[in-house]
Amino acid sequence: MSAQRKRSSVRSRPGNRPGETIRVLISRARVRQRVRQMAGQIRRDFPTDTLHLIGVLKGSVLFLADLARELGGEVSFDFLSVSSYGKGTNSTGEVKLIKDLDVSIEGRTVLVVEDILDTGLTLKYLLRLFEERQPKHLRVVVLLDKSERRIADVRADYTGFTIPNEFVVGYGLDFDERYRNLADVCVLRFAQGSAKK
Ligand code: IMP
Repeated sequence: MSAQRKRSSVRSRPGNRPGETIRVLISRARVRQRVRQMAGQIRRDFPTDTLHLIGVLKGSVLFLADLARELGGEVSFDFLSVSSYGKGTNSTGEVKLIKDLDVSIEGRTVLVVEDILDTGLTLKYLLRLFEERQPKHLRVVVLLDKSERRIADVRADYTGFTIPNEFVVGYGLDFDERYRNLADVCVLRFAQGSAKK
């Protein structure tokens, strides 16, 4: 890692609101390189299949868009929406389907594309839902894995980065709908006494 990259990855800067600071955890360049590697690995595993990408809204959108462009071959998309987090930084543990898929996944090679695997409760719910619908193959690709937070017994088939137990934003991930547009994956910290919803 170059000195300049090292410096930029430890520098904290103010967030959007007073009391919030963000620090780059994974730079956009590292994300880009890893997404390319993962796409290569997935294509090698399924060289001729049409890959049906299922994005979990909204956090996975940027990751899915980049992954899809790196995959090559035939790719289709669908999206669904679940709620597992409220406005704060801790999961309620409850998963609810807000928007179902538009098309059937029966007989398709399905890749569930998730931004982050935390407790694993969302993924467990989704896998149970999708397995009943009889896809040809069902695989999971996550950009980030906070493995030490896992509650449910699930794992991804393809993982971008294993990260420490920190609340992260950027590259699609939000806090209270903010920070999704950051190009880097950043740690969000709250100053003591600042209102953390
Ligand atoms: P799980 O069900 O606990 O694995 O949580 C999965 C979902 O929680 C992810 O798809 C995210 O939407 C959200 N989430 C978990 N950790 C973070 C984080 O550090 N930042 C932003 N969202 C997170």
